[in-house]
Amino acid sequence: MSVWGRGMRKPVVAANWKMNGSLELCECFTRKLARPEFADVWIFPSALHLASLTDYFRDSDIATGAQNVWCEPEGAYTGEISAMMVKTLGARFALVGHSERRAMFGDSDAVVAKKFSKIAEAGLVPVLCVGETLEERESGLAFEAVHRQLNAVEDVWECQDYSHEVIAYEPVWAIGTGKAATAEIAQEMQARIRDHIDRKGSGKSDELRILYGGSVKASNASELIAQNDIDGFLVGGASLDVDEFNQICEAVKS
Ligand code: 13P
Repeated sequence: MSVWGRGMRKPVVAANWKMNGSLELCECFTRKLARPEFADVWIFPSALHLASLTDYFRDSDIATGAQNVWCEPEGAYTGEISAMMVKTLGARFALVGHSERRAMFGDSDAVVAKKFSKIAEAGLVPVLCVGETLEERESGLAFEAVHRQLNAVEDVWECQDYSHEVIAYEPVWAIGTGKAATAEIAQEMQARIRDHIDRKGSGKSDELRILYGGSVKASNASELIAQNDIDGFLVGGASLDVDEFNQICEAVKS
C-alpha cells in the first residue's frame, strides 16, 4: 500500500485557466499558491503566460503545461505553438482533446490523436481530455463516446507506460455549468476508462492517473476525491481564485 492509498497514484490538482488570467493572476499565484506535499499541482495558463509562470516555478514542485499545441513540429502555422516549444520552456504537460477545442476549433478525434503523439514525442506528458455530450449521455451512449475518443488515440499511440500519461474525464454537460457529475457517475465512467485501458494495454492501468473535470469546487472536491478511480481534478472556473484552488488542493489530502 502506498502513502497515497490508491496504488502508486499521487493525487493531482490542475488548473486550466482557459482564455482567462493576467499577469496579476500569475503574480497572485506565485505568492499565494499552496505547495502541498500530498498532491501534484499543475497550472495550465494561456500560452502567453506560460513562459513567465514556468520560469517562476522552475525550481519548485509546481509544474506547468500548455492548454494546446499544434500537431506539426514547426512551420508556417500562424498563431500556433509546437509541443517542442513548450518542452523547451521547461513546462511538463500539455492538454489535448479538451471539449472546447473539439467543439469550437475543429479538433477531431484524428487531430487529437496526432497532437497526442507530438506531445508525447516531445517528452511532455499528454493530458488527454475525454467526455460525452449531454445528448450522448441522455441517449445511453456516454461510454461509447468516451471509448471512441480513447480508441482514436490508442490506434496511433501504443502506450507501454501509463505513469507517463494522464486522462481527464470531463463530461461536456458538467463544464462551466455549475453542475458537476455526481461522484457515482464520475466514478462509474472513470472505472470504465481504467478497465478499457487495462484490456487494451499492458495491464499497468493502475499507474494511470485519471482526473475528473467539470464544475469542481472546494465544496464538492472531497466527495469526488473519495472515489477509487478519481485521482484528482482538472479545474476550470474555480482555479481562477487562488484561495478556492488552495482549498481544492486541501480537499485531496485524505
Ligand atoms: P469548469 O471547472 O469551469 O467547469 O471547467 C472544467 C474544465 O473544462 C477544465 O478543463
